[in-house]
Amino acid sequence: MKDKVLIFDTTLRDGEQALVSSLSVEQKLRVARQLARLNVDIIEAGFPVSSPGDFQSVTSIAREIKGPIICGLARDVEKDILACARAIKPAEQCRIHTFIGTSGIHTEKKLRKTEGEILEIVKGCVRLARRHCGDVEFSPEDAGRTGVDFLCRVVETAIDAGAGTINIPDTVGYTTPEHFAKIIDELFNRVPNIDKAVISVHCHNDLGMATANSLTAVLHGARQVECAINGIGERAGNAALEEVVMAIKVRKDLFGLSTSVNTREIMRTSKLVRELCHMPVQPNKAIVGSNAFSHSSGIHQDGVLKEKKTYEIITPQSIGLKENRMNLTSRSGSHMVRSRLLDLGYSEVEAGSEDIYKRFKELADKKGTVYDDDLIVLMESKSSEDLKDRFVLETLNVSSGRGTIPTATARILVDGKLYSEAACGDGAVDAATKAIDRIVGYKIKIDNFHLEAVTEGREAQGRVSIVARSDEGVFNGAGTSTDIVEASALAYMDVVNKIARMKRFKRKLPAAAVNSAADKKSEKGA
Ligand code: KIV
Ligand code: ZN
Repeated sequence: MKDKVLIFDTTLRDGEQALVSSLSVEQKLRVARQLARLNVDIIEAGFPVSSPGDFQSVTSIAREIKGPIICGLARDVEKDILACARAIKPAEQCRIHTFIGTSGIHTEKKLRKTEGEILEIVKGCVRLARRHCGDVEFSPEDAGRTGVDFLCRVVETAIDAGAGTINIPDTVGYTTPEHFAKIIDELFNRVPNIDKAVISVHCHNDLGMATANSLTAVLHGARQVECAINGIGERAGNAALEEVVMAIKVRKDLFGLSTSVNTREIMRTSKLVRELCHMPVQPNKAIVGSNAFSHSSGIHQDGVLKEKKTYEIITPQSIGLKENRMNLTSRSGSHMVRSRLLDLGYSEVEAGSEDIYKRFKELADKKGTVYDDDLIVLMESKSSEDLKDRFVLETLNVSSGRGTIPTATARILVDGKLYSEAACGDGAVDAATKAIDRIVGYKIKIDNFHLEAVTEGREAQGRVSIVARSDEGVFNGAGTSTDIVEASALAYMDVVNKIARMKRFKRKLPAAAVNSAADKKSEKGA
C-alpha cells in the first residue's frame, strides 16, 4: 500500500460542476463505465444533495459500476451527509466525502464561524458520516490558505472522529510546489494520529501548478491524488489525471511508486470526456493533446526515425494511441519525406528523388501541412491539368429556418459543364452536401465536422474542417466563408476534388497512413 498512489477521479464531480451544461444520467454512466475500465481507485460520482439529477446519477453509478469505490460529496451539513449516504448506498464499496472551509477567509466571511465552532462541526459531521458509511474522507476546504496550526487541529479532529482519508485541497490553486510540500510535511510532523489516515491532495490549476503540486505532495508522503480527466474542473481545472499517472509511471526512478490505472485507456477516456463535455483539449496539452505525439522539426523527425527515444519519453501505445505522427511541413527533412513516400507505396527511386523533395518544399511553403493526399498529387500529377479541381461550386442556395424543411440547390461545373440539383436534409449543411452528392455521384461519409471562427465579431469568417471517407480513403477538407453553410460546402468540395484526383490517379490512401487524415480525425475528438 505504501508503494501505491490511489487515483481518485473527480471528473464527474469537480469536473462536471464546471461545465456550461450538465451531463445527463446516461452520459455520466458512460463516463463512469470508462473510468472503471481505466481502473481508477475511486470515482467521485457527484454531489447528491445539489440536485435530484445529481442524486440520480450518483445512485445509478453506485448501482451499476463495480470495481472502483463510489464516492459522493457532502458539505459538513446533516442533510448533505444523509442524502449522500442514501445515494451511494447501492455501491459495492462506497465513500462519503465531507468538507468544510477552514481558511480565515472561508470561516470568517463565508461561514461566519469561530475556529472552535468549525472543530465541533467537523467532529459531529465525520461521526455522522461514519454511522452511515465505513469509509469517510474529510477535506478542510482552502487548506492551501489555512493557517497551519488550525489545519493540524482540524485534521487531528477529523481523524479522531473516524475519517480514514484526509484530503488537503488547494482549492484556489494558490500554492507552489515548495509551499505545498511544507504544508504536507507539517501535517506529517505535527498531527499525532496522522498514521491512521491516508493523506490525499486535491490541487487546482489557477497558477498552472496543479500537477506539480500534487506530485510534490506525493514525494512528501501523500498517497491519494484527486484529479480529473483532461484536467477539467472549477475555473482553471484540477490536476489532470493523465499527467499525474503518466508522471508516476514514466519517472518510477524518482517516485518509486505506482498506480493501478490502465494507462492504455487514457486516450479513449480523454476523448469520451471531451466529446460528452463539449470541452476541447488544447493541441499542446500534455499526454492527450493532438500534438503530444507529433513531431514537426526536421531534426526531431530525423532523430525519431532513427530511434524513437531521442524525442519521445512516452510511447504513444502506452496511452492507447496507435502511433506517433510526423507532421510534414517545410521543416521536414528529405529523410522524412522519403520515409513517408515509401509508406505510401512508392519505390526507393521515386521516394528518394531530389526533384520530388524540392517540389515538396515548394508545396509545404504554400500549404503549411502536407497530407498524404497532397503527396500523392505531387507524385502523380503529370501536368497542370492534373492539379485543377474537377468540380467547381458555382452557386449554392439554401433555405432553412424554424418550422421549415432545409432545402439546398447547388450548381456545379463538372469538367466545364454546368449541372444543378436540389435536395432536402436534416439541416442546412446536410441539405447542401446531399445536393452536391447528387451531382458528383460519390459515396462520402463525414466522420468529423469542426467549425471555428477565424476572425472576430458578427462578420467573423468561419472555417470549417471536415474529415470524410470514401472508398479511396480518408480525407481532410477545409473551407472558409462568412457564411458557415457555404464554408461547409466548400470544405466538402475540397474532399470531393481530392477523391476525384485519387480516382484519376487510380490510387487509394493506405488505411494505416501514419500522417493520414484518419489520425487527425481521431485526435480532433469533440
Ligand atoms: O477544491 C476543493 O476544495 C474541493 C473540495 C470539495 C475538496 O473541490
Ligand atoms: Zn476542487
